[in-house]
Amino acid sequence: MENGKTVTALQTKAYAGARQTEQGRQNKANRTRQTEQGNRIHKKEKGGTDMSVITGLEKRRSRYLLNKELPVAKEKVEEVIKRVTELVPDAFDMKSARVVAAFGEEHEALWDEIERVFEGKVPHDKIQSFRNGAGTILYFYEEEVVDGLAAKFPTYAANFPVWANHANGMLQISIWTALAELGIGASLQHYNPVIDDMVRERYKLPKTYRLVAQMPFGGIEKEPEAKAKEKIEQRVQIV
Ligand SMILES: Cc1cc2nc3c(=O)[nH]c(=O)nc-3n(C[C@H](O)[C@H](O)[C@H](O)COP(=O)(O)O)c2cc1C
Repeated sequence: MENGKTVTALQTKAYAGARQTEQGRQNKANRTRQTEQGNRIHKKEKGGTDMSVITGLEKRRSRYLLNKELPVAKEKVEEVIKRVTELVPDAFDMKSARVVAAFGEEHEALWDEIERVFEGKVPHDKIQSFRNGAGTILYFYEEEVVDGLAAKFPTYAANFPVWANHANGMLQISIWTALAELGIGASLQHYNPVIDDMVRERYKLPKTYRLVAQMPFGGIEKEPEAKAKEKIEQRVQIV
C-alpha cells in the first residue's frame, strides 16, 4: 500500500510536470500561431505598411493650389479639429495648444490683413493662393500654461516651451493629415511673429497666446508633383 501510494504520488508529480511542459509547448505554439496569423492578416488585409496612420500620412502633402469647395461640411472640419486637439498628447499633459479656425469671409479678411501687415514684402500672388482656400487654422500655445508648469517643475523649466512647440507640431501634423483624409488640401505657413499683434487683436486673444503656425486649407485645385523616393536607410538605422 505504502509503495502504491509512493508510486501514485510520483506518477502524479510526473504527470503534473509533463502537463506543465505540454501546456508550455501549447502556449508557445499558440503564440507562434497568433503572431503568424497577425502577420498574415496584416499582410493580406492591410497590405504591409497599409495601416491607417500610414495611409493618412501618404495622403498629406503641402497643397498650395486650393479652392473654396470643401468636399465635406464645414461642421465636419470643425469636429475633426476639436477631436484631434483632444487626442494629441502634450508634456505633463499640460494641454498647451490653442487653435483658432477661420472660415469663409473671415479667412479671406485674415489674409487681407496679413498682406497689409507685410506692406508688400510678400508677393500678392502668394497671399492670393492662400486666400483662394476655404479656411485657415491658426496654431498657438498658451504661455501662461507653459510658465505655470515651468514654475512648478523648475528642474525642467527650460524644456516646457520646447515641449509646447513639439506638442504643437504633433497637433499640426495630425490635423494636416486628418484634413488630407477628408480630401482637403492644406499647407503650413509661418508669417509669425510679424503678424502676432494683428492676430491677437483681431480675435481678442490674451497676450499669452504665442502664435506658432498658420495652416490655410481648402478644396484641392491641383495636386503637387510626386516626391522623389528617398533612401530611407540613410536616415533610419535599426540597431
Ligand atoms: C516645421 C515645418 C515648417 C514648415 N514651414 C513652411 C512654411 O513656412 N511655408 C511653406 O510653404 N511650407 C512650410 N513647410 C512645408 C514644407 O516645406 C514641406 O512639408 C516639405 O517641403 C515637404 O513637402 P510635402 O509637405 O508636400 O510633403 C513646413 C513644414 C514643416 C514640417
